[in-house]
Amino acid sequence: MSYRYKQPKPSEITPESIYKRRRELLKAAGFGATLLPLSPSLMADSEEGPQGSAIKASKSPLSSDLEPNSWNDITTYNNFYEFGTGKGDPARNAHTLQAKPWTVTVSGEVDEPGQISLEDVMSTFPMEERIYRLRCVEAWSMVVPWVGFPLAELIKRFKPNSRAKYVAFKTLYDPQQMPGQRRAVLPWPYVEGLRLDEAMHPLTILATGIYGRELPNQNGAPLRLVVPWKYGFKSIKSIVSIELTEEQPPTSWNLAIPSEYGFYANVNPEVDHPRWSQASERVIGSGFSLFGNRRETDPFNGYAEQVASMYKGMDLSRHF
Ligand code: MTE
Repeated sequence: MSYRYKQPKPSEITPESIYKRRRELLKAAGFGATLLPLSPSLMADSEEGPQGSAIKASKSPLSSDLEPNSWNDITTYNNFYEFGTGKGDPARNAHTLQAKPWTVTVSGEVDEPGQISLEDVMSTFPMEERIYRLRCVEAWSMVVPWVGFPLAELIKRFKPNSRAKYVAFKTLYDPQQMPGQRRAVLPWPYVEGLRLDEAMHPLTILATGIYGRELPNQNGAPLRLVVPWKYGFKSIKSIVSIELTEEQPPTSWNLAIPSEYGFYANVNPEVDHPRWSQASERVIGSGFSLFGNRRETDPFNGYAEQVASMYKGMDLSRHF
């Protein structure tokens, strides 16, 4: 795979320059005005680029060298059921979320339980850019230049004890701010979980931004999980609670439809969803999506070499 553990390119690519370069390439390729109304992704490129407060971040050696999707793709095609079930709903509705001030509670099997504010997070942990492919369980994918830091760094600070085996995450529950929580489309609040070794893996990050800017609300402001070898639904947004547990914690999609969504949710082209294939994925915003641009899905979303050993001896068709 071309996007595993690549060293950063010598030329530091800033978010805006990626964006501008892509527009120039499209122009140079001669995509004229007549094509624009036909392709949503080309229209997206004519809109404004990254917005919001900047975050200082260094380029991580664990970043891929994939070409990121546009700011517009990443911030207008979302899953965030707290703001509606349509892909465009979060961008339209998430303005009611108050992402500042924000506090995350860390509890459970830790020697030093406590809280950490967003300000503390931003000043304590050095932020990195991590470009990862986000592979959604609905068989589409896009590439996101996250800003974040290893979840392991935060967990270590609260000193897990020897009983800690899993990590349970919880999204904010506040139907005033998250009107989608008034409808029973999922059990609220959204909850997710990882095994402790998955949570401590260097590829697992807490993201605070995209394209060098603070996370827009629709992407899970101010703090969300990103686990690049798992389906996107594991990457829980707007986290208020992290609890270390001895038992495997419940997860929202597994609670809702256990026959379709398991606890592990590792990207696996060989295990189909009961209602559709996972062998390939639709590439969002590739410019030719009208013609059905697809790619073959990689085992563990391209990170088999780094993570497959964690599941040795497990039947992954049973632990899907
Ligand atoms: N987190 C919460 N709280 N609520 C959600 O509905 N959707 C998940 C995940 N995290 C979701 C969530 C799903 S299905 C996906 S694919 C990703 O967020 C989408 O992240 P994105 O909108 O930043 O692409």
